[in-house]
Amino acid sequence: MSTLIRNGTVITAVDEYVGDILIEDEKIRAIGKNLDVKADNIIDAKGKYIMPGGVDQHTHFDFSFGDATVFGWEGSNAALVGGTTTVVDFVNQKIGWSMKDSVDEYVETKVNGKAMCDYSFHGVVYDPSDALFEEIPKLPEIGIPSIKLFMAYKGHPYHCDDAAIFKALQASKEAGVTIMVHAENADVIDVLQKQLVAKGKTEPKYHAVSRPPLVEAEATQRAIYLAMMADAPIFVVHVTCKEAMEVIRDAYIKGVPAYGETCSHYLVLDTDNLSKPNFEGAKYVCSPALRGEEHREALWEAIKKGWLKCVSSDHCSFSWKEHKVLGRDNFINIPNGAPGLQDRLAILWTYGVEKDKISRQKLVELFATVPAKINGLFPQKGTIAVGSDADIVIFDPEWKGVISNKTSLHGVDYSSYEGMEQIGRAEKVFLRGNLTVDDGKFTGELGQGQFIPGKPFGLAYQER
Ligand code: URP
Ligand code: ZN
Ligand code: ZN
Repeated sequence: MSTLIRNGTVITAVDEYVGDILIEDEKIRAIGKNLDVKADNIIDAKGKYIMPGGVDQHTHFDFSFGDATVFGWEGSNAALVGGTTTVVDFVNQKIGWSMKDSVDEYVETKVNGKAMCDYSFHGVVYDPSDALFEEIPKLPEIGIPSIKLFMAYKGHPYHCDDAAIFKALQASKEAGVTIMVHAENADVIDVLQKQLVAKGKTEPKYHAVSRPPLVEAEATQRAIYLAMMADAPIFVVHVTCKEAMEVIRDAYIKGVPAYGETCSHYLVLDTDNLSKPNFEGAKYVCSPALRGEEHREALWEAIKKGWLKCVSSDHCSFSWKEHKVLGRDNFINIPNGAPGLQDRLAILWTYGVEKDKISRQKLVELFATVPAKINGLFPQKGTIAVGSDADIVIFDPEWKGVISNKTSLHGVDYSSYEGMEQIGRAEKVFLRGNLTVDDGKFTGELGQGQFIPGKPFGLAYQER
């Protein structure tokens, strides 16, 4: 089965040119001008952009907050409709279990037969035992070269102290395993939460008050110092504020291998969303919290200048009516996390490229190429090159619409971006050469996604 995409404007992280792409046996076989080849299908992409399928390195298809559990892989076709062909999902270690056994069980019970996009994994530490630290250097053998530790969420089973983070950093470095941290000062948040609730300040907007920017900046700085003491690189996930971004930027400028990402919602939403009446604000409770405009602008500048490396979704599908409502009387009990898997490209294009905040090449870098490199998936994923997987988006820049939960496939009862303007869309999406989105609609099959093992030393590799 072969497909020839003719006359599209191909965008990569470094290039832009009009050309033809030949797809055969799930791979890109040839790229050129007026390719003189035969193919089973020919698509005329004149006037359309051709970009690599996105790599979203931060999704939670399995996450619990108290009694609430997110919608799972049955919603993974949302990735494809949004132009993302590969996700790197967080797999939670089971307490008393090895990471490998936790991953095997997860795949068997929750992923197999359901995943619709390709996927790789990060481990999430729940049980920082000696056995876990001994296992860390072996994780690349099972294609999982990264783990996340939560500095936040005091009292939750996944909270880790500094000793755990330091030991994980020490264990990771020789093997090229990336240590990722959720950087927030859990103790300060706990104190502020209790003080606010004692004063009757229980509405969703107080979520942000209990987690001010310095809570994030302090933990980010501490994590970087821990990494320096362990002489290991570090990656800070979901950076939301100017102060935390500057800590990472300044450490990097001094030669410390410290890196970070931000997420789509921090680029376009803000604390006003948390103040929406009738408990609507709960939809936007995620951690770290949404910030004000000054921070949004700092984040746009940071991604443009390369101080933050990529833009993820932090997709975490708690439903509003079933799960968020658990915090109706107290924001502390609102499950943290929001859906966004389908909207990353729409946000980056509409509010980044169209507003001249980033170039088309920068979009591809943030959306696909760098996350593929960080997670050891490049060049199989994240670019348009001969030999790469034929994960391709045919993007119509003329399309205009509005983001709505009515057209979201993520399986919950709201969209974080409801009613926001969208310019351009993924008109056709190929996953390893198979047309899986046509005319913006999912046309693939349940279970078509494949595991793509990640290679270690991704942080060093993305520097090149
Ligand atoms: O609020 C968030 N971000 N929920 C998902 C879990 C996490 O902290 O990444
Ligand atoms: Zn987190
Ligand atoms: Zn997350």
